[in-house]
Amino acid sequence: MAKKKVIALGGDGVGPEVMDVTCWILEHAGFDLDIVKPPCGAESQRLLGNAFPEETRKLCDESDAILFGAAEGPSIGILVYLRWVLDNYINLRPIKYYPGAQSPLRNPESIDFCIIRENSEGLYPGREGDLQWLSQRLPEYKDLFGRTLDEYGQGKYALRMITEKGTKRIAQYATEFALQRKSSGYTGKITCVTKSNVLFQTCGLFSQIIEAEVKMHGDLTYEHYYVDDAARRIMRYPNEFDVIITSNMFGDILADEAAEAVGGLGIAPSACFGGSKAYFEPVHGSAPDIAGKGIVNPTAMILSAKMMLDYFGMQTEANALEKAVAMTYLEGFALTPDQGGKSSTREFAEAVLKNIQ
Ligand code: NAI
Ligand code: MG
Repeated sequence: MAKKKVIALGGDGVGPEVMDVTCWILEHAGFDLDIVKPPCGAESQRLLGNAFPEETRKLCDESDAILFGAAEGPSIGILVYLRWVLDNYINLRPIKYYPGAQSPLRNPESIDFCIIRENSEGLYPGREGDLQWLSQRLPEYKDLFGRTLDEYGQGKYALRMITEKGTKRIAQYATEFALQRKSSGYTGKITCVTKSNVLFQTCGLFSQIIEAEVKMHGDLTYEHYYVDDAARRIMRYPNEFDVIITSNMFGDILADEAAEAVGGLGIAPSACFGGSKAYFEPVHGSAPDIAGKGIVNPTAMILSAKMMLDYFGMQTEANALEKAVAMTYLEGFALTPDQGGKSSTREFAEAVLKNIQ
C-alpha cells in the first residue's frame, strides 16, 4: 500500500496544540504516513496575512486526507472549504465511553453509539438577511397562523433548507453504516431525530426519506424522536442508542451533549466524508478559555486520527492507537484537568505513545 499523505491543519485556538501532539504520536509510533503541516490558521494569518494560503489548499487537494483542529475566526474559510467546497456531507460522531473518563452519569460503562450529522444543509451555512427585504419580495407569504411577514416588523430571518437529494444520500449512508455495525454485533437500530411536530415540511421530509430508506432493509429497525425528547433520552437512556441520524444543527448540538455523557468535549472525535476528500476533526471548537495553557485534552483529536486510520484501512494502527488511549484512561495518571487530572497535553500524549510501544 502506498504511503498515505496527510495534511495537518491546526487552525485556531487549541487547534494547533491538539494537532501538534497528535502528529507527534503518529510520527513516533512509526505509522506509515507522510504528514505535512503547511501554514494555516491564526498564526499564518499573522505571519503571511492569509489563514489559508493557496499553497496549503493545493497540498490539501493533492492529499489522501486532512486532519483539522479548530476554527475560531481566521480558519472559518478552511472549514467552508472542508465542508462545502469538498462537499463532505457526512459527519460521523462516535460517542463511546472509555473507563476512567469523567462522565457525569452513574453507569456510563456501556455507552457506545454514533451520531450521523447531515453536514451540508439545514440551517448551515447561514443564509440570513433583513426581514423587511424578505417581506418586500414575498408580500403574499403567510405563516401557519395567517400572518404576513410585514406584520412582524423589523428583524432578521434565517433560511432552513432540507433537500430530497441531500437527505437521500445521508439516509443511504446511515443504513449502510448501521448494517455494517450490526454485522459486528450492534443492534441495527436507526434513530431519526427531528422537530417534525413543528417543522412539518423540512423535518417532515427528512424523517420520511430516512424512514423509507431504513424500511428497505429488513435487518434494521427504525425509531423516531423529537429533538427535545432525544436530548433528554441521551442523558437518561444513552445505552439504548445505536445510530442516531439527524439534520445539521440538531447534530451539532446533540453531539456536544452526548460528548458530555462519555466524559466531555475533550474526548469526542469526528470524521467528515462523502465528498471529494475526507477530513477528520474533534467535535469541540477552539476553546479560547484554555488556549495557550498547555492543558487542552488532545483525546478528541487523537481519536479523530484513529478514524482517519480506519478510513485508510490501516486497521492494525487504528486499533493500536485506540487501545493506547483506552489504556491511558484506565491507568488514570496522565489525565488532563478536564478529566480531573493534573497532567499537561504533552504528558497525556507521552502516555499514549508509551502505551502504543
Ligand atoms: P468549544 O468547544 O471551543 O469549548 C466549549 C468548552 O469546552 C470550553 O470551556 C472549553 O475549554 C472546553 N473544551 C473544549 N474542548 C476541550 C478540550 N479538548 N479539552 C478540554 N476542554 C475543552 O466551544 P465554544 O466555547 O462554544 O466555542 C469557541 C470557538 O470555537 C467559537 O469561535 C466557535 O465558533 C468555535 N467552534 C469551532 C468548531 C470547529 O472548528 N469545528 C466547533 C465548535 C466551535
Ligand atoms: Mg459543534
